[in-house]
Amino acid sequence: MRAITVLPGVLNSARLDEVPEPPLTDGAVLVRTLALGVCGTDREIVSGAYGEAPAAGERLVLGHESLGEVIAAPPESGFAPGDQIVGIVRRPDPVPCPACGGGEWDMCRNGGYTERGIKGRHGYGAERFRIEPEFALKLQPMPGVLGVLMEPTSIVAKAWDHIARIGRRFNSWQPRRVLVAGSGPIGLLAALFGVQRGYEVHVFDRRSDGPKPKLIRDLGGTHHAGTLADVAGLDPDIVIECTGAPAVIAQVLGRTAPSGIVCLAGIGGDHAASFDIGRFNRHMVLNNDVVFGAVNANRMHYEMAADALARADKDWLGRLISRRVPLARWHEALDHEAGDIKVIVDFTL
Ligand code: BGC
Repeated sequence: MRAITVLPGVLNSARLDEVPEPPLTDGAVLVRTLALGVCGTDREIVSGAYGEAPAAGERLVLGHESLGEVIAAPPESGFAPGDQIVGIVRRPDPVPCPACGGGEWDMCRNGGYTERGIKGRHGYGAERFRIEPEFALKLQPMPGVLGVLMEPTSIVAKAWDHIARIGRRFNSWQPRRVLVAGSGPIGLLAALFGVQRGYEVHVFDRRSDGPKPKLIRDLGGTHHAGTLADVAGLDPDIVIECTGAPAVIAQVLGRTAPSGIVCLAGIGGDHAASFDIGRFNRHMVLNNDVVFGAVNANRMHYEMAADALARADKDWLGRLISRRVPLARWHEALDHEAGDIKVIVDFTL
């Protein structure tokens, strides 16, 4: 069968390969891939900057944003042929640490976790894959390939889950205004959650062209372009930073309303940005602010994601999938094109 593979650590080593059928050791549920979402992490792996093969010298099957249809599953698995499923990305570390042992592998304490298509485990970017029933999620019917948005939505669900938990550190927390920095798929989905929670949502993006401003307006949010200085007076209660850009991070830190929460959810370049740490510290201490990072998702977050997607307008969600490429032209999914939001490899084309 065909699969997108890469030699982690080696620039531009990705290619469409012929690989053996997935081994039973990957799980009892056999799945036909319908679609695979591509994100910044995949681009980083293809650039040689990230990723880990299952064994030394081996190629890694790429892909962690899955959507598939069950071909075969044991009756006791709870899955049946024809079910649409999404695969969870992370697997607990083998020790396991207290977090992984309790099903909270997204909070792994020793770094020994693996991630399909990213770290030490083959991904979902193959015509067929196998998965353990406990790491697969059965989707309620959604039009077309919308289910491929589940994995990025689970990341956003985790961020919002932790924001809510942090908010509960004092009894009278009543956030009203949310600022999302960045309007890629994670930013737009973060805005969707904010709107679904009844907050006033502002989304900042450098650009004012393309489909994103209208997507934000159609959601009920406010789009801001230009520089973050223009939104300096907003005083958001919650900031979700999705760009990972040091210059943007430097501007959002220490600019919330008192007892504000900043969630860092993006990973960008390692280059430096000038930042007044003394001013930041003063703001943090005198206002009881919190800044935290969020990555990955456990099963509960996938369930939160399924709920958010079920309640969202399906046309709006469909507009997030801006480009589909067939498996034979998979490499085009990694290119940046004007108007791109979520680009997917559509295995049904
Ligand atoms: C994935 C996460 C993963 C992270 C770090 C992201 O792109 O969505 O599941 O934990 O990369 O590897």
